[in-house]
Amino acid sequence: AEIVVVENKRAAGDLIAESIRALIESKPDAVLGLATGSTPLPVYASLARSFSERPLDVSKVRGFALDEYVGLPAGHPESYRMVIARDVIEPLGLSPANVHVPSGDVATLSTAGAEYERALVAAGGVDVQILGIGRTGHLGFNEPSSSFASLTRVKTLARKSRADNARFFDSPDAVPVHCITQGLGTILRARHLVLLAFGEGKAAALAAAVEGPISASQPGTAIQLHPHVTVVVDEAAASKMV
Ligand code: F6R
Repeated sequence: AEIVVVENKRAAGDLIAESIRALIESKPDAVLGLATGSTPLPVYASLARSFSERPLDVSKVRGFALDEYVGLPAGHPESYRMVIARDVIEPLGLSPANVHVPSGDVATLSTAGAEYERALVAAGGVDVQILGIGRTGHLGFNEPSSSFASLTRVKTLARKSRADNARFFDSPDAVPVHCITQGLGTILRARHLVLLAFGEGKAAALAAAVEGPISASQPGTAIQLHPHVTVVVDEAAASKMV
């Protein structure tokens, strides 16, 4: 992987936003792989600034989210469908019909994974996949023991991940237990992976992902199997790398 250590989140956001802008300029119907959580927010904020300063036709840009919680009521503000609408579709001015989020609706769960995979294939695959990493080492919600060949499917969140995401909910118990997530195999099909990490809390998971032995107990190490990976981190997140 190419490792880029930047001064702060804003610099990381600007760097990645610039390359995404260039991608869209050369491919107006580019397919963006969208992460949620706190980490990618500087990228979306920088893209929004860039588009408002120098308008660009993004009407054909497509997007695919990594994951979704299972069983939240439709329209729940912390469902990733709503988060993607709020943090990505609206500020960037994307067409809602072009942006996909796996369905966490319990009624259709048995077919939702395969359906998402079909939509990804029909779109021609993801051009650039933005990734954060969890303290468990998860990419998407692929917790330790996820197969490197896995495709979109239902998973159980690790206790540590539920605790980390409790900040978005009224109480720790309100965090869903299950999720639907692109598999590591799905993520590895994207043509370019951009992994971001900020802060000391991510340092151990990041060092393991980039430098550790490839292992299903460290899902982040899947990036070592991909030929085109860019890792953008601040000093604190980089602090445990050799
Ligand atoms: C989000 C996702 C997760 C997060 C990870 C880090 O779609 O799939 O892998 O990227 O949990 O979360 P933050 O960025 O909130 O620290």
